[in-house]
Amino acid sequence: MENRIEQIEAEALASLSNASDMEQIKSLSVKYLGRKGLVTLFLRNISELPVEERPEAGKQANITKKRLEAVFEEAAKRMAAGLSDNSGAIDVTLPGRPAAQGSLHPITTTTRRICSIFARMGFDIAEGPEVESDYYNFEALNIPKNHPARDMQDTFYVSENIVLRTHTSPIQVHVMEQNAPPIRIVAPGKVYRCDSDLTHTPMFHQVEGLLVDEAVSFGDLKGILESLAHQIFDEHIRLRFRPSFFPFTEPSAEVDILCVMCRGKGCKVCSQTGWLEVMGCGMVHPAVFENVGYNTRKYSGFAFGMGVERLAMLKYGINDLRMFFESDQRFLRQF
Ligand code: PHE
Repeated sequence: MENRIEQIEAEALASLSNASDMEQIKSLSVKYLGRKGLVTLFLRNISELPVEERPEAGKQANITKKRLEAVFEEAAKRMAAGLSDNSGAIDVTLPGRPAAQGSLHPITTTTRRICSIFARMGFDIAEGPEVESDYYNFEALNIPKNHPARDMQDTFYVSENIVLRTHTSPIQVHVMEQNAPPIRIVAPGKVYRCDSDLTHTPMFHQVEGLLVDEAVSFGDLKGILESLAHQIFDEHIRLRFRPSFFPFTEPSAEVDILCVMCRGKGCKVCSQTGWLEVMGCGMVHPAVFENVGYNTRKYSGFAFGMGVERLAMLKYGINDLRMFFESDQRFLRQF
């Protein structure tokens, strides 16, 4: 007898799955659950079954009734909401839409490339806060208040003593405060300057480098940066070190790379000079070592800071800085 009620349920579900409008759902509901419906009649006729079968049959029939009520209600709801896939409006055999594939931003790829080259040379990766105190961004780096070097970096002030870091150099100070020499780190990150035109954006990316040990020389610095340039570009690329000034390094230099577009012949990208400026560097100033409590007689070191956008533009032949910040899929998908 249980088989009979199971049969009724299977039949009801099968017909329901073929119902394509509200009308059909309603009439099926009446056919099975109405006053003279098949389930209702089954329940009513239980008294005619042999006594020992009645309890089990009753239990089964009630379960079926509850289940069908819920299923019909749900089907009616879906139909009303236009969600039914029985209407023929949705062809379930159509292939699915492929999920849109993302890709890494060229700034991310370039940053990672730089960091992995240094990692292979034994450097650790360090990070620091983008919102910095005046002390870490300036003071500890030997840039006192009212020092003209502060004008080099148009600073965004959060409050009188808190700034958005204008360079990644404050990370040098954090690292040295927390670790004794020898130090070998690179520190990638966003930096902010109140500056916006064709070749400047208020936020851009740098990778800072710092190496401190006994008897570190400017020659070590040159060797490491040359190796980096060769690995990012190729063996024939040349670097040029121009004397420069930073309060936190002495001596200081600006590093130019042979123009990757014209290879030194002179073109629009390098303003006919044949060279492109890519970073600042130098030997860590003793005043910075003193601020972090390092023994200046025992230790020496070098530091450098490079612009990631600049390197990415050269690497990928991008001629407009703004491309990096427009999130144009057609541009980004190429990388
Ligand atoms: N912080 C400097 C800048 O942003 C770059 C630099 C880093 C120079 C480390 C020397 C040493 O311009």
